[in-house]
Amino acid sequence: MSTALITGASFGIGRTFAEKLAASRTNLVLVARSKDKLTQLAQKLQEQYKLEVEVIVQDLTESDAATKIFNTTQAKDLTIDLLINNAGFGDYGEFAERDGERQMKMLQLNIVALVDLTHKYLPLMRKRRRGSIINVSSIAAFQPMPYFSVYAATKAFVLSFSEALWAENKPYGVGVLVVCPGPTDTNFFVAADFPTDLPNKANSIARPEEVVNDALSALDKGKSTVVSGGFFNQAIVNIPRFFPRETIVSILEKQFQA
Ligand SMILES: NC(=O)c1ccc[n+]([C@@H]2O[C@H](COP(=O)([O-])OP(=O)(O)OC[C@H]3O[C@@H](n4cnc5c(N)ncnc54)[C@H](OP(=O)(O)O)[C@@H]3O)[C@@H](O)[C@H]2O)c1
Repeated sequence: MSTALITGASFGIGRTFAEKLAASRTNLVLVARSKDKLTQLAQKLQEQYKLEVEVIVQDLTESDAATKIFNTTQAKDLTIDLLINNAGFGDYGEFAERDGERQMKMLQLNIVALVDLTHKYLPLMRKRRRGSIINVSSIAAFQPMPYFSVYAATKAFVLSFSEALWAENKPYGVGVLVVCPGPTDTNFFVAADFPTDLPNKANSIARPEEVVNDALSALDKGKSTVVSGGFFNQAIVNIPRFFPRETIVSILEKQFQA
């Protein structure tokens, strides 16, 4: 039986990854800060599917977070076959007026922890010539986003980084997939301080199950990238290519103004 390590497994898309993978008989390592949520989920999945589920309570904005997680899985002799770098958050508002420390934590979580965990587990996968990594980006990765500037830039990093790794690691039998969801029905918008009417104005809201199904199906097919959510999200990520960058960013500035 294979083992998946999922960051941000306590809520939303990460929790749904855990539930889907458990149903397909994958052992799990669940990582997030909310100990009670993780423990309850682990107990439920263990009982329901007779799996081994480990919980690692860890704030991924700490600079040594990836090292601690890696050391824990090594000490328990766990082989990670699938790494899902899912944990992330956004922060809505004018960059100059938002809390600076929160922006640094976003970089640490959305970028640094993801790169660090990838750098720790990828060499072992290459050695085994088997394994996969799913990195969760966003449709926000494809164009700059006024009022969501740092978040969109972190997701652009994740998209670029992951696609490069897909090509580098194909010869080693290691799959790297970046999944780009559109607005999805999770705690994300509350955590990001998003004005309540904006997500609906922007797009329809997907269920986390749709995102996870799209990701796992794309991984099976050996794809590098999947834009989840069908035609509407495909249009959002492709239309900017045909217009001057100033035009697109000006339209988005109006659309995402509170
Ligand atoms: N929802 C959307 O519309 C949407 C769209 C595109 C992309 N995404 C991406 O999807 C991913 C999952 O988000 P979601 O929508 O499922 O949001 P969510 O419901 O807010 O879940 C976020 C997860 O990340 C964990 N997390 C947050 N800060 C953390 C930290 N410092 N250390 C460790 N874990 C932390 C949270 O757990 P704890 O609070 O327990 O730590 C939680 O499990 C994110 O990368 C997000 O950017 C979401």
